[in-house]
Amino acid sequence: MRVAMIGTGYVGLVSGACFADFGHVVTCVDKDEGKIERLRQNVIPIFEPGLDDLVASNVRDGRLKFAVDGAEAIRQADAVFIAVGTPSRRGDGHADLSYVYAAAEEIAGLIEGFTVIVTKSTVPVGTGDEIERIIKARRPDADFAVVSNPEFLREGAAIDDFKRPDRVVVGTDSERARLVMAELYRPLNLNDTPILFTGRRTSELIKYAANAFLAMKITFINEMADLCETLGADVQQVARGIGLDNRIGPKFLHAGPGYGGSCFPKDTLALVRTATDAGSPVRLIETTVQVNDARKRAMASRVADALGGNVAGKTIGVLGLTFKPNTDDMRDAPSLDIVPELQKAGAIVKAFDPEGMDEAAKLLPDIQYCSGPYEAITGADVVLILTEWNQFRALDLDRVKLLMSQPIMVDLRNVYSAPELKVRGFAYHSIGRPTQD
Ligand code: UDX
Repeated sequence: MRVAMIGTGYVGLVSGACFADFGHVVTCVDKDEGKIERLRQNVIPIFEPGLDDLVASNVRDGRLKFAVDGAEAIRQADAVFIAVGTPSRRGDGHADLSYVYAAAEEIAGLIEGFTVIVTKSTVPVGTGDEIERIIKARRPDADFAVVSNPEFLREGAAIDDFKRPDRVVVGTDSERARLVMAELYRPLNLNDTPILFTGRRTSELIKYAANAFLAMKITFINEMADLCETLGADVQQVARGIGLDNRIGPKFLHAGPGYGGSCFPKDTLALVRTATDAGSPVRLIETTVQVNDARKRAMASRVADALGGNVAGKTIGVLGLTFKPNTDDMRDAPSLDIVPELQKAGAIVKAFDPEGMDEAAKLLPDIQYCSGPYEAITGADVVLILTEWNQFRALDLDRVKLLMSQPIMVDLRNVYSAPELKVRGFAYHSIGRPTQD
């Protein structure tokens, strides 16, 4: 089938490249000429493992193209995907839908023949109705259907999540649109992926409900971690103990400094706004947002505690700045709360992140960026692990101790364990686990 993908962020680019890899002919469209030019040179603007090869092979096979002017691709498309950004609107937390509606206006002027318009971006419940209204107003004659098809892609695992999803959700009441969507995702039939067809508003809500539930699950285990610290229990064992119940499941029960990223913070806030406006507030998610924000801010005090209460003049070696491993994305990363708080208290911060330092330098300019973990640790009074990159999982701890001014580790991702650090003479602080052996 012929697909036009509007927006080449990590959702649009990954979805477009994967649809091409399924055998469809895809044109990814973006207003940013520089970005399109770089994509044509196979310069991928985001760090997503495997994406450069996937793009290159599908461009080479003629199934994937890039364009600034989407007119021709939209005219010829069987399906036009809207995969533009829906950031939190300044000030009130609602999703900013200006890019979505601009895309709808552009599509309205171009569609010929029956066309399925698909919202792939995360959009508040009811957005599909508004897109339908915009297009109908502009083109009462047009033969189209607006469909919701939310993505469930995790950064760093986006290609695998697209090609081997737990499910595909499609929201439409149009039988013709349903056939088009089934054909688009037909290659997934090979591994029996369930395709769930629902109403459009239901599909839009499924996306928010999924992210909000995952954010709440993480916040739950983070609160259990704090309780473990006061009760002398071990949160990793608690996570394992509850996770073996298949009604709970083991995933997303890793306690840490709080969730970040481009989705959970914005989607939880947008859901809270939608629910409040609808007169049916989601108080569990309101609390999740508040608890998570407070947690990220509170993490800096753990470093101060590890240094006897005062970080002024101390050097802190930070390992990891991105909101999670295998991405260069800094959006709402805990480091953006923790590092400025430490600097405000007089700490000197050195840092290393395998992929995120270019992005981080725009947001955290007063850090000494290092070429590797050992440089960041050299001369440090405390090593602070903020992101669980694999590069940090097997450090030469004897070398670390020699390089540091004093052997103190604050491990906010529970990468290491107290016994292996204590035996080397480290003062070791982690999340939700006793500092004793
Ligand atoms: C998330 C959803 O997983 C994905 O389905 C949706 O489409 C987009 O948002 P992403 O934000 O890329 O994906 O990352 P994810 O792996 O979900 O992690 C989100 C945040 O939660 C990160 O800050 C991560 O560090 C944190 N997290 C995750 C935990 O603190 N503990 C966990 O057990 C899992």
